[in-house]
Amino acid sequence: MAEQKATNVTWHDHRVTRKEREQIKNQRGAVLWFTGLSACGKSTIANTVDHKLHALGKHTYLLDGDNIRMGLNKNLGFSAEDRAENIRRIGEVAKLFADAGVITSTAFISPYRVDRDNVRALLQPGEFIEIFVDASLETCEKRDPKGLYKKARAGEIKNFTGISDPYEAPEKPELVLDSNTKGIDDLADEVIAYLKANGLLG
Ligand code: ADX
Repeated sequence: MAEQKATNVTWHDHRVTRKEREQIKNQRGAVLWFTGLSACGKSTIANTVDHKLHALGKHTYLLDGDNIRMGLNKNLGFSAEDRAENIRRIGEVAKLFADAGVITSTAFISPYRVDRDNVRALLQPGEFIEIFVDASLETCEKRDPKGLYKKARAGEIKNFTGISDPYEAPEKPELVLDSNTKGIDDLADEVIAYLKANGLLG
């Protein structure tokens, strides 16, 4: 966990409460945390869920691995330490979005269980929905849309998840999406169905 460096800082409560922000949107803030190997379909499914929720009139936002790594987290690489910091920052950002009453999807490999559990601990019970996008290494390597597995196999990328770095699958995710056999649209519908069944859509 990150160390608290600043001293003489005080928490301020704001006049507009989270509940009021949620009421005006007729929904509850939540974090949909998509995790899985590179090319498992996380970003595409999260994008489709985001689109479907938007079409239902919901206020949403999508935090996506590669995009965040080109901005907020551009100073981080892929060592275990940097991945932990990547996930910690995303967790804190997602928490702010959820506090704003927004249904926030995140699409990061987030390979380490402890890093994901630390994010879960930042949020209220029921607010962190861990979604394991389950595609085998074989499936992901076959897809290889960015040619990264090929490069990793050739030794051109170090610490590549699934090849030379570990991926720790969630033990008790709220949802498992079988991306080996099912299509993007069906999987996105499974997420929407989960949110409806759990009263998260207002
Ligand atoms: S995480 O492990 O810290 O959660 P994140 O999701 O932000 O990773 O970034 C993963 C993306 O970075 C991959 O989809 C891929 O495009 C790219 N990438 C570049 N190098 C690596 C690497 N060594 N391991 C995994 N992904 C990498």
